Amino acid sequence: MTAEIISGTEIAKKKKLEIAEEVKKLKEKGITPGLAVVLVGNNQASRTYVTSKQKNCLELGMHSVLVEFPESITEEELLNKIYELNEDQSIHGILVQLPLPKHIDDTKVIEAISPLKDVDGFHPINIGRMMTGQDAFLPCTPYGVMVMLEETGISIEGKHVVIVGRSNIVGKPSGQLFLNQNATVTYCHSRTKDLKYHTLQADILVAAIGKANFITADYVKEGAVVIDVGINRNEAGKLCGDVAFEEVKEKSGFITPVPKGVGPMTITMLMFNTLKAAQMVEK
Ligand code: GUN
Repeated sequence: MTAEIISGTEIAKKKKLEIAEEVKKLKEKGITPGLAVVLVGNNQASRTYVTSKQKNCLELGMHSVLVEFPESITEEELLNKIYELNEDQSIHGILVQLPLPKHIDDTKVIEAISPLKDVDGFHPINIGRMMTGQDAFLPCTPYGVMVMLEETGISIEGKHVVIVGRSNIVGKPSGQLFLNQNATVTYCHSRTKDLKYHTLQADILVAAIGKANFITADYVKEGAVVIDVGINRNEAGKLCGDVAFEEVKEKSGFITPVPKGVGPMTITMLMFNTLKAAQMVEK
């Protein structure tokens, strides 16, 4: 079987048109959705992500500000800036790009963001609301995965979903979103015994491991849906996912590529969450 390739780029394009339309309507009512992106230090990957987030804001007609601090900023100074952004009426979403320098406690920083402006969906209030099935800001990457499946017409109810990876940003919330849609969910991680036994059961396999080309065809059931959340560089410095794309595409039913798969969806859902935050102010 050769898989159908799910294009994150195409789905993101469609979703962004819908978001831009809603932004236009809000602007007619005098509200311009605003996102503040906070960048600490000089991590090159973080800078690339932040630039892309700002570019997307501009394309969709949103306001964005970049708040930059040197690596040496104290935790207190950073918290004070967040308190200020929490009060700023022109800002609807606040995103603090992770990772932060070691001397700053990310948990404290995330908890300082108003849950009403937490467009990353990382605040414990939003995580708790998501877990109990209430309306919440959903974390952008898992949310993007769900939208990709929905747009591709892949049903989730009753399916066995196997998640490989248990990070707070991707693995854990992805499993929860699938559970909320009535899937049976298995979480695997670095201490899982006989990983292959589990992944071979998956109707939908989510790879969020962080190791280039880790999931080879022998880990995948014939016809499965394979979602690759990895962003790695191979030995040649080329961007690649956690899934060995060329061989797995010959066995799976659907597969997401890297690049042009989940990545563009993550940013799109951030834009969606920022719009939603601005719409909440209107109400
Ligand atoms: N670092 C890597 N991914 C993310 C993300 O989704 N949000 C933030 N704030 N930082 C990140």
